[in-house]
Formats: sequence, structure tokens, C-alpha cells
Amino acid sequence: MSDLASLEQRGLAELQESADEAALRAWNTKYFGKTGTVSAALKKVGEVPPAERRAYGQEANRVKEALTRAYEEQLAKAKEEKLAQNLAAESLDVTLPGRRVDQGRLHVSTQVLRTIFAIFADLGFQLFRTREVEDDLTNFELLNMPPHHPARDMWDTFHTTTPGVLLRTHTSPGQIHVMRAYCPKPIRAILPGMCYRYEAITTRSEIMFNQVEGLAIGDHVTMADLKGTIVAFARRLFGEDRQVRIRSSYFPFTEPSIEVDMDCIVCGGKGCSLCKRSGWLEIMGAGMVHPTVLRNGGYDPERFTGFAFGMGPERIAMLKYAIDDIRQFWANDLRFLRQF
Ligand code: PHE
Repeated sequence: MSDLASLEQRGLAELQESADEAALRAWNTKYFGKTGTVSAALKKVGEVPPAERRAYGQEANRVKEALTRAYEEQLAKAKEEKLAQNLAAESLDVTLPGRRVDQGRLHVSTQVLRTIFAIFADLGFQLFRTREVEDDLTNFELLNMPPHHPARDMWDTFHTTTPGVLLRTHTSPGQIHVMRAYCPKPIRAILPGMCYRYEAITTRSEIMFNQVEGLAIGDHVTMADLKGTIVAFARRLFGEDRQVRIRSSYFPFTEPSIEVDMDCIVCGGKGCSLCKRSGWLEIMGAGMVHPTVLRNGGYDPERFTGFAFGMGPERIAMLKYAIDDIRQFWANDLRFLRQF
């Protein structure tokens, strides 16, 4: 009986010292586990002389219940304390003003490029990217411009210190890459990307700019397909009423070559400062792929024909948003960029 009394005292005292849930659980194992102290005391009932057995059993049960109750109370208290602690630590003042998240945006060139991609995707053109650092062979020679060809003067070139390696002056070398990748299958692709020209920077011309090249090759691709594609594109981008005019021109890699004008989006053709009183705005160069270029891409010009065009998205953005200075595109002036 005295063992039971000291067991109860010890148990209660140790319970008081168990500060948190983990300690309490350890205490529980020590007293109530399979080999626990209270469990042992209860098993002892059988060893007690029959005369004292009943009294011992009752007392053992009382001690067991007292300790169990004390444990449960203590455990509930520990859980409550922990919860209160957590709530205090993680408290959230919902009345505080929110933190402003600085929102990024797409550069105006990227926006216009994506619009162009979407229009040509609808027309069945896939996107094909090629390198910005080109070789002389692909940028000029395979496009029907051997060394010393006078037409090379149309593209003032950034050369690298490695002979024959240059920054592409237009996206047209992409024509060779995409042809060689797909020959002899038909092609409908656009080739977007940065081009570089060693030119004086003015409000109208930059040394770096994007181009979007288009190329279609098949066994029955005609000038009418080229015209239809350009008209559909211009109307999707600038509105259903747009008129398109074709002028004859010259590029070494197309024959015949054309330049495409669109009626002025400001004056509708009457003449204003944007179109320099002409009523027309130039939007791209184009033409039927020269037989030599087809052959250089692996296609038999007796069997295949193709059209190609090249346009400048920054120029198009300038028309669309009435931007009067091309230098704005790479000036990193947030006041300009935030407008789009
Ligand atoms: N590459 C030409 C340019 O820069 C544009 C062009 C592309 C013309 C395709 C005809 C065909 O200026």
C-alpha cells in the first residue's frame, strides 16, 4: 500500500515537471507502457495475500485513475499552450495595407512579334529560329550574292574578328537553314529574330532590330499566294479596310522582287506627315525565291517554287502605335516601355 502511495506521489511530481507534449508522452510510456510502473503495480495484485488483495486492488485502480486523469489534464493544457503560442507567432494583421508586387510586362517588340506569330500560325506558318551569328556564306553567298556582288552594299555589315563570321544583317539566311532542314518537304515557316547593321543610328534606323522572315515552298506556290498572304496579314494586323500596293524592286535572292506598301493608317491615303504626303507606308520586301537560292537549299527549281518576305516588327510597331523614333525601342526608358 505504501508503494502505491509513493508511486502516486512520484507520478504526479514528474508530471508537473513535464513541460511539453513530448515530455508528457514520455511520462505516459514510463508509467502506463507495457512495462510501465503503474502496469507493473496492477500486475502485482496476484502476489498480494488474499486478505489484502481487495483493498490493494481498489487502491491500485484509484491510483491508476488519478494518474490518468492528471495526465490527460496536463496534456490538454500543454496542447492549448502550444496552440496559443502558434497563434501569437503567426498572427496576421489583415488590416495592414498589402505589399505592392512590381508587375513586369512584355516589351513592345515582343508584343508585336507575338501578334505576328499568331496571325501566321493561323495561316499555317510554323516558327523556325536560326542563329544571329552567321557566316558570310549563308548571309550572302548562298543568297545569290558572291563576294564583291554590288548588292552587298545594301547591308552594312558587322564583321567579327574571325574572318567570314558576322552578325546577320537580315533573317534571309534562315531561308537556307530551314530549307536544308526540311528539303524536299513543302515549307510554310516564319523566321523571326534580331539583325544587326553597321549604320548611323537615326530616328528611322537602328543598328539592331528584329525581322520576321516568311518562306513558303511547294510545287505550286505563286505570286498570287504571296499577295494573298500579305493582304490577309495586313488586314488582320491593321484592320479589314487596309489596301495593299505592290511595287517592283530588287533583291538578289528573289525574282521577281517586290516591295509592299499599305495605305496610310493615319490619313487613309490622302497624304499626311506619317506617310510623307504619299498616302502609302512601306511594310515589307518580298518576292519569289530565286532558283539559285532554292537549289542552294536543296530544292529542285524545276519542281519547286516559293515566295519569301521580310519585315521589321519595330517598323510595324511604329506604325501601329505612332512611335516616331526607333531609338526608343532599346533605350530602356521605362516611361516609354510602360505605355504598352
Ligand atoms: N532580307 C531583305 C532585307 O533586309 C528583305 C527580304 C526578305 C526581301 C525576303 C525579299 C525576300 O532587307
